[in-house]
Amino acid sequence: MVGVAKKRLDWLLVQIGVGSRREVKALIRAGRVRVNSEVVKDSAFAVLPGQDRVTVDGELLEYQEFYYLMLNKPAGYLTATKDLYAPTVMDLLPEYWRKRKVAPVGRLDKDTEGLLIFTNDGQLAHRLLSPRRRVAKTYFLRVDREVTPADLQALAAGVVLDDGYRTLPAEVELLKPGNEPELELTIYEGKFHQVKRMLQAVGKNVIYLQRRAMAGVELDPRLKPGENRELTAGEIECLQRSGEESPN
Ligand code: URA
Repeated sequence: MVGVAKKRLDWLLVQIGVGSRREVKALIRAGRVRVNSEVVKDSAFAVLPGQDRVTVDGELLEYQEFYYLMLNKPAGYLTATKDLYAPTVMDLLPEYWRKRKVAPVGRLDKDTEGLLIFTNDGQLAHRLLSPRRRVAKTYFLRVDREVTPADLQALAAGVVLDDGYRTLPAEVELLKPGNEPELELTIYEGKFHQVKRMLQAVGKNVIYLQRRAMAGVELDPRLKPGENRELTAGEIECLQRSGEESPN
């Protein structure tokens, strides 16, 4: 069969989320795992993922290589897989997903809300984060003082951050003027605290920040903060396309 590599039986069971390497080895040794109806007691037995019929205690396992989901991140959670002191976005995912080893693609600050994509497709995640790909990220933000047309022009053209870096051209729209104006900002890079520092460069403090879209995938407005869902096939395609694009 072209394109499908054989894998160890214990690897497959760990990937599917049946348990840890040690747990699945014990299940296999106990004769609870069958491949194409035959009991297999050898953890190293070679299987074709997605083609061989693998059951545990008679239950058929569905193999999927990659998983993609979106989370509506609430404020108060760190984008990290582990932290000793603060809750992390991994705490918001059910065990089902944690077992499948999905990880966040990029970071949102602890106080930032909105779209966070998770996947176990490390190569795609890497491509989406590569500065060369210039993947679009759209934010909704509220700032603490009036925004002028000159500020908008500066943000769109590129501003100089506190470390001397000049940002790439961005798209900016004033959604609501006034004392606490609301903006939508699309950027094509991801420097540390970029949106907050861009606004600082024009003399404003961000008082609310939410990511609304990334790589052509929009935050599902039906997701309440803390909720997640799997991406649709169309959304996964958007990610893959964004990951392929090269600016040159
Ligand atoms: N820019 C920021 O300043 N913070 C975020 O969380 C994301 C982008």
